[in-house]
Amino acid sequence: MPSALITGGTSGIGRATALVLHDLGHRVAVTGVNPASLARAREELPRGVTVIHADAGDVSAVDEIRGVVAERLGALDLLFLNAGTFQPALLPEVTEASFDRQVAVNLKGPYFTLQGLLPQIADGGSVVLTVGVGARRGSMGASVGAATRGALLAMVPSLALELAPRQITVNSVSPGPIDTPLFSKLGLPDDAREAMRERVPLGRFGSPRDVAETVAFLASDRARYITGQDITVAGGYGLGA
Ligand SMILES: NC(=O)c1ccc[n+]([C@@H]2O[C@H](COP(=O)([O-])OP(=O)(O)OC[C@H]3O[C@@H](n4cnc5c(N)ncnc54)[C@H](OP(=O)(O)O)[C@@H]3O)[C@@H](O)[C@H]2O)c1
Repeated sequence: MPSALITGGTSGIGRATALVLHDLGHRVAVTGVNPASLARAREELPRGVTVIHADAGDVSAVDEIRGVVAERLGALDLLFLNAGTFQPALLPEVTEASFDRQVAVNLKGPYFTLQGLLPQIADGGSVVLTVGVGARRGSMGASVGAATRGALLAMVPSLALELAPRQITVNSVSPGPIDTPLFSKLGLPDDAREAMRERVPLGRFGSPRDVAETVAFLASDRARYITGQDITVAGGYGLGA
């Protein structure tokens, strides 16, 4: 039975990926940090999905993840590094604490989680990172978030080269506007949401499942010759002017 670890798997895209992979017969574990989300995930995700409390911004938490993976999952066929935080602020308002937290959760955390779990990833396995269309596009208040995503994106080809000898593929997915709890957490007003939807050529927000299916594809036998790539899942958001 293949196995998958998903960071930030208690909500949104990560949760949808856990459900898709579980349906495909994977053994799945997810991480999260918020006690309410963790409790909800334990209640709502199918039995058999392991829910781990681990802060993606705390490198020392990787030890605990490693232990749970060894006990519950065995060798990992997929490591989906999806946990992320977005704290929008214009340049004059960005604090050092917010800058450091976004770097810790979005960049340093995924890097050292991959490093720590590398011995437990099966040869021929897959690593997928969540980046986002914001890595390549400007948007007001997103300079720090975009910088962390851009740095992740820049790592993918080098990591793909380093892991190729073990036939481990390394790719990323870049979601555009996806309808997840992220937007309510950010308190995005309805008119801003609507303006965003109008800029999507396919005319709708994506569903978390749109991204989850892409991740499941990248983890499947059908994608064994794809590595070092970023797949945008955005309904055409950002095409044209
Ligand atoms: N939705 C979009 O339109 C969009 C677009 C581009 C990129 N993204 C990226 O896609 C990823 C998933 O976002 P989403 O839209 O699915 O949002 P979401 O529904 O808010 O889910 C975020 C997940 O990440 C977890 N998480 C956040 N901070 C964490 C931390 N420090 N340690 C461990 N887990 C943490 C959350 O767990 P808790 O609930 O426990 O905090 C939750 O499981 C994020 O990296 C996000 O930046 C999303």
